[in-house]
Amino acid sequence: MKKNLIILLCSLPLLSITTLHGQNKKSGKEAFIVVDDFESGNFKNWKVEGEAFGNSPVTKENSGIRDVNGYLGNYFVSSLSEGDDSRGTLTSSPFKIKSNYINFLIGGGTSPDLYIELVIDGKTIYKNSPFSEGSQLEWMTWDVSKYLGKQAYLRIVDNDRGKWGHILIDQIEMGNIPKSDYMVDKRLSIKSDKKYIMLPIEDKAPEVKVFLEIDGIKQIPHSNIRLAQNKIDYWVPLNIEGYKGKDINLLLPIFKRNGIGYSKINTSNTFNFKYDEPFRPLYHYSPFFGWTNDPNGMVYKDGEYHLFYQYNPYGSVWGNMTWGHAVSKDLINWEHKTPGILPDSEGTIFSGSAVIDKFNTAGFGKDAMVAIYTNDGDRQTQNLAYSLDNGKTFIKYKGNPVLTDPNIVDFRDPKVFWDKDSKQWIMSLATTQTITFYGSKNLKNWEKLSEFGEGIGAHGGVWECPDLFPLTYNGKTKWVLLVSINPGGPNSGSATQYFIGDFDGKKFTPDPLPYPLWIDNGRDNYAGVTWNNEPNGKTIFIGWMSNWDYANQVPSVNFKNAMTLPRELKLVNNGKHLVLANPPIETVKELRKETNTYENVSVNDTYTIKNLLSGNEGAYEIEMDIKPEKSNEFSFILSNNNNQQVSFIFDLTKEELSLDRTQSGDTDFAINFSSVIHSPIVKRNMYKIRLLVDKASIELFLNDGETAVTSLIFPKESYNNLTFKSLDKQPIQFNNINIYKLGL
Ligand code: FRU
Repeated sequence: MKKNLIILLCSLPLLSITTLHGQNKKSGKEAFIVVDDFESGNFKNWKVEGEAFGNSPVTKENSGIRDVNGYLGNYFVSSLSEGDDSRGTLTSSPFKIKSNYINFLIGGGTSPDLYIELVIDGKTIYKNSPFSEGSQLEWMTWDVSKYLGKQAYLRIVDNDRGKWGHILIDQIEMGNIPKSDYMVDKRLSIKSDKKYIMLPIEDKAPEVKVFLEIDGIKQIPHSNIRLAQNKIDYWVPLNIEGYKGKDINLLLPIFKRNGIGYSKINTSNTFNFKYDEPFRPLYHYSPFFGWTNDPNGMVYKDGEYHLFYQYNPYGSVWGNMTWGHAVSKDLINWEHKTPGILPDSEGTIFSGSAVIDKFNTAGFGKDAMVAIYTNDGDRQTQNLAYSLDNGKTFIKYKGNPVLTDPNIVDFRDPKVFWDKDSKQWIMSLATTQTITFYGSKNLKNWEKLSEFGEGIGAHGGVWECPDLFPLTYNGKTKWVLLVSINPGGPNSGSATQYFIGDFDGKKFTPDPLPYPLWIDNGRDNYAGVTWNNEPNGKTIFIGWMSNWDYANQVPSVNFKNAMTLPRELKLVNNGKHLVLANPPIETVKELRKETNTYENVSVNDTYTIKNLLSGNEGAYEIEMDIKPEKSNEFSFILSNNNNQQVSFIFDLTKEELSLDRTQSGDTDFAINFSSVIHSPIVKRNMYKIRLLVDKASIELFLNDGETAVTSLIFPKESYNNLTFKSLDKQPIQFNNINIYKLGL
């Protein structure tokens, strides 16, 4: 539930400022004029809106931030008051600019929705986010010499939610000395005779804005680059092939004076790196380099499956949202393509879908590939871009945006399909904690049809990435609605829930089932949706194989994150009720290269198969049947010779399957990666197991995907031992054990 805006102070007095000469307790020896050091412990000179900043400045002890550092005195401003999800604004009383610089301390998250802004004569003069994600406050300096004598005011804004969704501010003062290590407004001239500008990246460095200037024209939008400060993690290319012979400059509005990155920027005709990094999947799609999250715009056309995806081409942490692009003939072998849809002046490109407009309803051309996506700018809006060359290039529709709503902040991720019964396009859109359905005859004009979600399913986080589609069960059509939610998943963080019911062209009516139901009970399958225009009438799903809890920290180099295996969605009865099964598509079996067949194992204690595969490089499948017989508690464990392991533990009395990855390998890169997760299962006489391992991931499918559990792992070497355990010492059988080496 959204809290109401709390306005604590409406009419504000002119800010009373103190000039401190000589020995200033908080600022050293220079003469500084303190705008606010917050040592009064209250916000008497500020207007407080929203809930993010609480009712007063905080001390370290009551801030809830254990490692906060760098603030001066006792009090500082924090927007973590009501947790990372809260939003709000602090607006200062007006004050007069009396010195050349305004210095202040800043820390927290680096999202552009967290910032401090200086407003003079109604115009924003500066608007800056914290430099680097962290609880260390650092000096930031604004040169305000041009505005001496003018009236100004400050706004401190937290419009962000989720991890690091807070800003910290302290000691705002005016003086004639800049206190920051950062430099502003740098220009670097680039020779235009090569293909790429090579940018040195450090994942932990703060993002800096980088503008490309061509023949004196600043290109909009800018990119956010984590320009290396202390060490270079990897390089990314910025393609300038199209600007041969032109005057090229890189403009950096702000960056760290003594960071190493700026001086290392160079140009090159080649961009190469060792592609088989330790955690690079073999048969799952991962971007060539850079970051990915949600799959987007999945559509089939002329023999090719298109996969667009949330992509950062300038680093392997989230940012610069662009639609990356890949194509495949079989959904397994993927070809990387140049990005499909790039950020524009309306914002970055968030998730969405693509359709083939067979009847030219939009007028872009018969069989045009039309992408419907969210622009994330000052607000979130729905937009169109179309391609007349099978996804190679996209043209943004001039009449964008096609759908807006000034009242909904989280308004995104349109998934569109052609409903042949109601003869219109249907869009499912995430609208904060509900899914809103819209209808359109031409993809351009949308009319609200209905809204679904209040009081049903899981609501522990924001609703995202919906998908509504029909499936056949027992000869009858049922409709399934996928809704991703973050946080609020059954095992922490992100997860995808679903509803089964009916859709009459306007309204989705769910069947009475024990919601929430999850497509995958592992922690690493999020934001998945299905392909449009699938040629064999199948419903094929792919998810993002990660979790917002730690996706930005996973220890892979050059790239971060991959997609799940493509899975075919089917409705099945699990013995209790209908569920959405999601086994891997049949083609995955074609990856099987070598087979090791093992004899049936019967245990009432422990048995280990060592060396499952010779030359095991971490891409393999385990297939077996488990017959629990008299045992109610048993497990199987994959392990390597470094004492790293993943255990799958069945408790049939509780009807629960647990996956323990606490000792799976590198688990320290994020606080809550290491975990034991639990998944409901149904007690049966036999479980058919398929377990697909691909370097840094495990996908477990029980009984043809009736239960799916997807989990990331970061072992030092491949697990090559398989141990069977009867935990209650009752006999149990593991039969038909096949280990397949997988390869493309
Ligand atoms: C889900 C999501 C979407 C959004 C995209 C931004 O993971 O938050 O709602 O469109 O990621 O990258």
